[in-house]
Order: sequence, then C-alpha cells, then structure tokens
Amino acid sequence: MKKISKKKILHIKSSINGTHSYSTKLGCALVDKLRAQYPDAHVVTKDLVEEDFPHLVGETLVSFFVPKEELTTEQKTLLHVSDKAIEEVMEADILIIDAPMYNFGIPSHLKAWLDQISRAGITFEYGTNGPKGLILNTKAYIAMASGGVYSDGPAQQMDFVAPYLKTILGFLGITDVEVLRAEGTAMAETKEASIEMVLGQIELVN
Ligand SMILES: Cc1cc2nc3c(=O)[nH]c(=O)nc-3n(C[C@H](O)[C@H](O)[C@H](O)COP(=O)(O)O)c2cc1C
Repeated sequence: MKKISKKKILHIKSSINGTHSYSTKLGCALVDKLRAQYPDAHVVTKDLVEEDFPHLVGETLVSFFVPKEELTTEQKTLLHVSDKAIEEVMEADILIIDAPMYNFGIPSHLKAWLDQISRAGITFEYGTNGPKGLILNTKAYIAMASGGVYSDGPAQQMDFVAPYLKTILGFLGITDVEVLRAEGTAMAETKEASIEMVLGQIELVN
C-alpha cells in the first residue's frame, strides 16, 4: 500500500547538460514548489546520465522469466536494476521527468529507464479488455526542454517527446500527466522569456 501520509516524489533527470540543463532547471523548480506544498515529502532523485543507467540487454530479458531460485549471479545483477527502478516508480505519488528533446525524441537514457520499468505482469498486463496499466494513483509532470518551439505552429507534428511520454506513461497506468515546456532554448530571442514563462507556470502548480 502507498500514499497514506508523506508524499513521495521521484525526480528523473535525463539531460547530458548537467547544471546547464533547462529541463533539469524546470524539474528542480517543480520539486522546490512541491516541497513547499508538502514539507515532509520524501524526494528520490535519479540522474540517469550520472549513473549511466543501463539499457536492456538480452540477458536482462531472460532474467525476467527465470524462476528466482535459478537466477545466475549476472542475471540477479541485471534484474536488480529493473526491480529497483520499478520499486521507485511504484512508490512515487508524484513523478517528475526532466525530458530534453534530442533529435525530436527523448534521450536514450530515458528510453532505457522506460524499457526497464515496462514489465508485463508488474507494471502492465493484458486482460480481456486489452492492456491495463498497473502503476496507479501517480501524478506525472514532464519538464521538457527543446531548442525549437513545438507547442504551436508547423513544428508541432515533429514533437515526439510529449506524445510519446504521455502514451507510454498512460500504458503503464499513469494517466494524469502535465507537460511543462521550456522552448526555444537554442534561440537567444525566445530562451529567457520561455524559461520565465514556464517558471511562472510552476508557481501555479497545485
Ligand atoms: C544531441 C542533441 C539533439 C538535439 N535535437 C534537437 C531537436 O531535434 N530539436 C530541438 O528543438 N532541439 C534539439 N536539441 C536542443 C535541445 O533540445 C536543447 O538544447 C534543450 O535545451 C536540451 O535540454 P536540456 O537543456 O535539459 O539539456 C538537441 C540537442 C542535442 C544535444
């Protein structure tokens, strides 16, 4: 059982830009805002780039289906990465994903994390009514940053970050998803205004 008293916040970072990252700046501002709202909140921060979060390999997939008592030492190590990531996301009341746009999509580290937490029978299942997500009662925020502008105008259809994240999170049961965007971070004329605007939006989050 979760969600009885203290809020648990899971903050996922996936930018390669470290302290210069706009998505991380947004994600951290959101964490600060939520901490002010829930002073006793427990925050877990996972920097996928810093910890070089592992991609799935063939043996990881095998380890998902081997009975516990038959796992090799290598399989146990691989399985632990996925199990731990799932435990962290299952426990979270609030999930914040910092999502930079790289080549119109999400960073590969973030994709690796999503691959590790998407497990049949644990975070989703197929029933008579089709797929059912099993990560329940979790609110998600996507703190997105992109060099160009995608929220409006002709480039909108080239944004595969927000639609993809909403789809995969929804598939896993997380349907309450809010997207905050710092856009035009590669353009001097839009950068600062965009950051100020999105930090203003964060102030209004409740
Ligand atoms: C490898 C790479 C690919 C990028 N691809 C795109 C892109 O397809 N579209 C875009 O608008 N900006 C692109 N950018 C710019 C980033 O989206 C922008 O710098 C953003 O602020 C990155 O988020 P961050 O500041 O949190 O790292 C790319 C940047 C990098 C490093």
